[in-house]
Amino acid sequence: MTTKHDPLETIRVDRDADGVVTLTLDDPTQGVNTMRAQFTDDLVAAVADLRAERDQVTGVIVTSGKDTFFAGGDLNELIAAGPDDADRVAADTARLGSALRELETFGVPVVAVVNGTALGGGLEIALACHRRIAVANPKAVFGLPEVTLGLLPGGGGVVRTVRMLGIANALINVLIQGQRHKLDKALELGLLDEVADDRDAAMAAARAFIAATPESAQPWDHAKYKIPGGATQHPMFAQNAPAVPANLKKQLKGAHYDAPHHIMCAAVEGAAVPVARAFEIETRYFVDLVCNSAQATNMTQAFFFDLQTINKGGSRPDGFERSTATRVAVLGAGLMGAGIAYQCAKSGIEVMLKDVTLEGAQKGKAYSQTLVAKGVERGKVSAEKGQALLDRITPTAEVADLAGCDLVIEAVFESTDLKHRVFAETEPVVAPDALLCSNTSTLPITTLATGVERQQDFIGLHFFSPVDKMPLVEIIRGEQTSDAALARAVDLVQQINKTPIVVNDSRGFFTSRVIGTFLNEAVAMLSEGVHPVTIERAGERAGYPAPPLQLMDELTLTLPRKIEAEYRAAAEQAGEDFQRHPAYLILDRMVEEFDRPGRSGGAGFYDYAEDGSRQRLWPGLLEHISSGETEVPMDDLVERMLIIEAIETVRCFDEGVIESMADANIGSIFGIGFPAWTGGVAQYVDQYPGGTTGFVARCKELTDRYGDRFVPPASLLAKAEAGEAFRA
Ligand code: NAI
Repeated sequence: MTTKHDPLETIRVDRDADGVVTLTLDDPTQGVNTMRAQFTDDLVAAVADLRAERDQVTGVIVTSGKDTFFAGGDLNELIAAGPDDADRVAADTARLGSALRELETFGVPVVAVVNGTALGGGLEIALACHRRIAVANPKAVFGLPEVTLGLLPGGGGVVRTVRMLGIANALINVLIQGQRHKLDKALELGLLDEVADDRDAAMAAARAFIAATPESAQPWDHAKYKIPGGATQHPMFAQNAPAVPANLKKQLKGAHYDAPHHIMCAAVEGAAVPVARAFEIETRYFVDLVCNSAQATNMTQAFFFDLQTINKGGSRPDGFERSTATRVAVLGAGLMGAGIAYQCAKSGIEVMLKDVTLEGAQKGKAYSQTLVAKGVERGKVSAEKGQALLDRITPTAEVADLAGCDLVIEAVFESTDLKHRVFAETEPVVAPDALLCSNTSTLPITTLATGVERQQDFIGLHFFSPVDKMPLVEIIRGEQTSDAALARAVDLVQQINKTPIVVNDSRGFFTSRVIGTFLNEAVAMLSEGVHPVTIERAGERAGYPAPPLQLMDELTLTLPRKIEAEYRAAAEQAGEDFQRHPAYLILDRMVEEFDRPGRSGGAGFYDYAEDGSRQRLWPGLLEHISSGETEVPMDDLVERMLIIEAIETVRCFDEGVIESMADANIGSIFGIGFPAWTGGVAQYVDQYPGGTTGFVARCKELTDRYGDRFVPPASLLAKAEAGEAFRA
């Protein structure tokens, strides 16, 4: 139609003979639509034009010219906003909100034809329509994942989901965890109304809806509307209301997260007032997160920008064609080998799973059988697909069966000699250019590489347990590893749907080295006489997914002792002084005096029942190990854990073990449970109040109180003095 604003940059406007106006969201500058400033301008203009021609409009269809519907807010704009921008962000948000509100109160039917993924702001646009018709697409996802970036849906998403689904339902299924739902689930929840086979059918259904319901309006604009399940004043909700914050607290285990808190307040406060007021409340909480919450900046940086850098191959050397593995030899069918075999087969790779005996290899395959059976039972995978996955895994005890494999992943016992031996028999049998990978957790890659002919094709692939659940793989480049091999390793990790970080060879690589400092710090607290319950609580308060003593039991108390012995030997060889960390005296006693090596040994910092389930902290800790009477401020306990990991990370950068901020941040969150609110272990330094200056000042304070391990590295001191951030 010809209007005063047409043509718009990011929205195409078409009107048919029946008076149906189609708004096609199609930003020519980007592959996906986002809510950048131009889009808001265009939407406001499009709505103004509709208003001007109101009499001739019989209905509105909102759809997208991209493969996806709409991606969401413009995170570049949001992450740049600070406290001084609050008024501007509030005004922009209100402007967009008014346009959407006007659209839904127009008095004519408004239908969203959701042709693909609609997340965040994208789904919020669809929620402002009276009917949402999706195009069948098994890949599409729908949801309001803002919370995972430390934000809340500020385009009316809180208000509309609460009024559409009820307070508890909206919070649990959409808002607090930010789930990305597949089509079926989105329909079941009521985020979508109907599904059509293709775009044409969806457009036809939209027109049919418009023709059939000329007076369409949102449910909450009807006089007799009530929030499903009751508003806050309703006795039914009032009865359950106290459970909402309590459950949230339980879920977050005492760590404070701004976004879920703000979302909950916006939902509950908004439900008690008329809808126009509810939008204002939502905007207020949204603006507070965008402009004042460090967590929002941290999480947006990590979970959007850093992850995007990695997914685009940030640490992958340039100039190599993308490779695809087709047939892998997994050596060792124990805990890790079995998990790696499953993950590879799931991604379509043929797997030869080799162990010393056929029975051993079959036992490894049985792990996949169990996972597939569970998946089929829960409807996550079809029986056919599950069987096809299993058919791709061939257990064997014969080296000759590995012929033709273009990839080897070794996961036999942690011994250099044994690893050398298995590679020596494997290398001549597999494809002449097969990539040779070891899943060692502690042995130097450069040393392991000396056991093969093609050292340039040898690389570390450090998986985490359980392989099918843990998203990270740490790729370790040995001294001889070629760029080509590194590129292939990155491709492989992405092929099997994991997130790669790239590090250089050094004792403990990056992740094990950093997590070790956290665990040792917790044990050092015990040695000072801090109560073990307080230590565990500090870990939870900091936001770690598992408290430190519990985690140490899982990883065993013997492993750190082995690692210490290696450090000691290395120091002696280099003629250096070796200073024992205070944690080791306790670990020595736990293992030697009390025979408590960790969960797998039946006893550790905790007691375990016969069936291995964790019972309680071992009462003997207070008798033999810690008086439990030393009072250390909670803030110190919490920050000692976080800061000691950050200091070790700075050292890893200094030594060239890790080179990318994105890898450090994502590696720490995905691999070793560094709290998500920080945006990762490198980001933690920059987001510390006062930046690098505040961080080193706090390190000095902790050094005076707890020891030299908190002395800030010289490189960081230099940055602090120059007023520079840690992130270059
Ligand atoms: P595991 O003890 O469960 O499995 C090792 C398997 O290797 C056993 O099934 C054994 O029969 C097999 N094996 C021994 N000699 C062999 C040979 N000559 N040919 C073929 N198979 C042989 O050990 P796990 O835990 O799976 O560890 C394997 C490797 O992965 C180790 O290097 C370990 O350090 C590393 N790793 C372990 C992690 C964990 O959480 N358990 C995490 C990351 C790495």
